[in-house]
Amino acid sequence: MTPKYSREKTPKINVVGSVNLDLVATVERLPGTGETVSGLTLERFPGGKGANQALAAHRLGADVSFFACVGDDNIADEALSILKDEGVKLDYCKRSSDEPTGQALIAVSLEGENQIVVIPGANSINFLNQDFHLPTADALICQLEIPIETVEIVSSNFSGFFCINLAPAVEISARLMSRADLIVVNETEAAFYGNIIHQRQGHTAITYGPKKAKLFLDGKIIAKTTPPKVKPIDTTGAGDAFTAALTVALTKNQPPENALKYACTAGALATMIKGAQTSLPTEETVLASLG
Ligand code: RIB
Repeated sequence: MTPKYSREKTPKINVVGSVNLDLVATVERLPGTGETVSGLTLERFPGGKGANQALAAHRLGADVSFFACVGDDNIADEALSILKDEGVKLDYCKRSSDEPTGQALIAVSLEGENQIVVIPGANSINFLNQDFHLPTADALICQLEIPIETVEIVSSNFSGFFCINLAPAVEISARLMSRADLIVVNETEAAFYGNIIHQRQGHTAITYGPKKAKLFLDGKIIAKTTPPKVKPIDTTGAGDAFTAALTVALTKNQPPENALKYACTAGALATMIKGAQTSLPTEETVLASLG
């Protein structure tokens, strides 16, 4: 029988994005506006959408180079520790003495839902010159926790498959929108952008938490699936696992239905352990769950 998911090709992927140290408070329920609630635990985890997506792609079998800016402080070492230990290439992580490493204050409820406040710090620095060229690779993944200018530079000077996770949602240029071969958004971000994410050539994926996910090509739906049912502990990083997994699968030329299922499974598995990076699944775990 032919396996559905090819392990043969090792895609080479550049990820350009943010690094944060996540300070995670577990709460019985998330506070409302102006409300104070008592936390149950307070823990520190490596995070940041860029770092999470780099590690996710690496665990899914890609050869990953990560480009980021951190502060010249101990927080950077803590925030990059898992990527370093697992062999993500960090040669391009710049240390700046102008800003501290980014941090995120995260409240996670017993149902696994979260609220996140990011203090960008060094993530707000454009650390690349206008003429910077990324190494040749199959794909580039970016998100929006770093300056748009940085995303513009790397995507203009790169000729491979370009995935942009439009999170957090902010206005972007028409050039960036049309340059993207794959846009990934959740339903809130999809509502922010409206129809423009579909008025372009390329793939667009929209996730709806545990309910469903849809994949569009040139504005037309080509796949729809429901993630596997899991008991969520912490949904932080699920979108990052989904983004990386969909890019890996499409880079391996998986058919749309398979690629979307693979990404949904990676996203669902990423909710089962506390912490953004601690929970990111390996290729083996995702394949085992797909059966
Ligand atoms: O996507 C999850 C990430 O968002 C967290 O790790 C946090 O650092 C914020 O960047």
